[in-house]
Amino acid sequence: MDKVRIGVLGAGRGAGLAMAMRFAPSMELAAICDANQERLAQAAAATGVAQTYTTYEAMLDADIDAVLVASPMPLHVAHSIQALQAGKHVLSEVTAATSIEQCWELVEAVKASGRKYMLAENYCYIRPWSIVLGMVRAGLFGELYYGEADQLQELKGALPHPDTGYNWRTAELAMRRGHQYITHNLGPLYWAFGERIQSVACQGSGQHHLEWARADDTCVVLLQTVSGKLIRIRLDFFSDRPMNVTYYGLQGTEAAYEGPRGSKDDHKIFVRGKTPGGEWQSLWDYREFLAEGWKRIPPEMINDNWDGGNALMLEDFARCIIEDTRPPVDVIDAVNLTAPGLLSEISREQGGIPVAVPDFTTGR
Ligand SMILES: NC(=O)c1ccc[n+]([C@@H]2O[C@H](COP(=O)([O-])OP(=O)(O)OC[C@H]3O[C@@H](n4cnc5c(N)ncnc54)[C@H](O)[C@@H]3O)[C@@H](O)[C@H]2O)c1
Repeated sequence: MDKVRIGVLGAGRGAGLAMAMRFAPSMELAAICDANQERLAQAAAATGVAQTYTTYEAMLDADIDAVLVASPMPLHVAHSIQALQAGKHVLSEVTAATSIEQCWELVEAVKASGRKYMLAENYCYIRPWSIVLGMVRAGLFGELYYGEADQLQELKGALPHPDTGYNWRTAELAMRRGHQYITHNLGPLYWAFGERIQSVACQGSGQHHLEWARADDTCVVLLQTVSGKLIRIRLDFFSDRPMNVTYYGLQGTEAAYEGPRGSKDDHKIFVRGKTPGGEWQSLWDYREFLAEGWKRIPPEMINDNWDGGNALMLEDFARCIIEDTRPPVDVIDAVNLTAPGLLSEISREQGGIPVAVPDFTTGR
């Protein structure tokens, strides 16, 4: 096999990723499926895809090797398992699951299937983080011990009142406390630390904008890894303020990184013995650490926001199938990234107590 033929389920976010497949040389967009015919027609026109389907079962019967599951979050596990049982490899949108029980079901189904499963955590691939990771792997940070991230993204307008009918975003993001969308924040830090989270604690600010919502305006999640490294994450889907969804910070014994806090700020790095005068310097001074894959991305596609690395992520998924290697965010990584968010809800509901995160490699 020199190209992976993929079918896309869900023509919202899925259509955006289908467009990025042009820049993933080992992937071929073979089909798109959506029950909404208007959305499906729009995605077909934008991508020029040959086959379209209105039922998932029909697409799973087609000549495809893999499925991109870009359906609503609470359906990811059911749709992933359906694809695995039909013999397809799976690239799943985030988050992997919406309950701990679903996390276990997913791990067991992937094991039983012998197929590849990867979580489409695109924030792991953003361009500035590629430089930071390159520096971490080259030893410039020394030993890492602290990381932080913010997801400040005002979403009130996209969260309809629950009385107006079921909406998955309202159900998961407005009616549940804790950080239900944690993988974007945790994913890049997890790649840098290379170890799972052992415990999670969460406190919230209360809700000041939507009187019917249960979620806090802001919640802060504190995570401890198995070797004791500390991570702080702030989520805010409600406050009126400028958006910032790709803020990360990282501290090691030899270097520190801080992303931009606003539009006039830059990516800043300090490397002991290299950065003059104990000041910050620009991260772009270290662009030689950027991953190779960025060289084939056309300049008009290069950006440093959350969509910036989509093509690299898609290519990584295709290569792990072709070369029969471990997916870069495999099913254990996927649940290691998802479960701390699910358990932050329990911590928040119980006054911020630390909650243990299961080790999904040991079986239940
Ligand atoms: N990684 C990112 O940056 C990013 C950005 C946006 C969304 N997402 C994720 O992508 C997923 C989809 O988000 P969205 O905004 O497109 O949601 P959405 O609700 O707008 O779209 C989901 C689509 O799936 C279709 N669908 C659901 N079940 C189906 C079925 N059984 N058969 C056929 N079609 C079906 C629906 O008709 C709908 O068009 C979510 O899980 C979200 O968390 C990720």
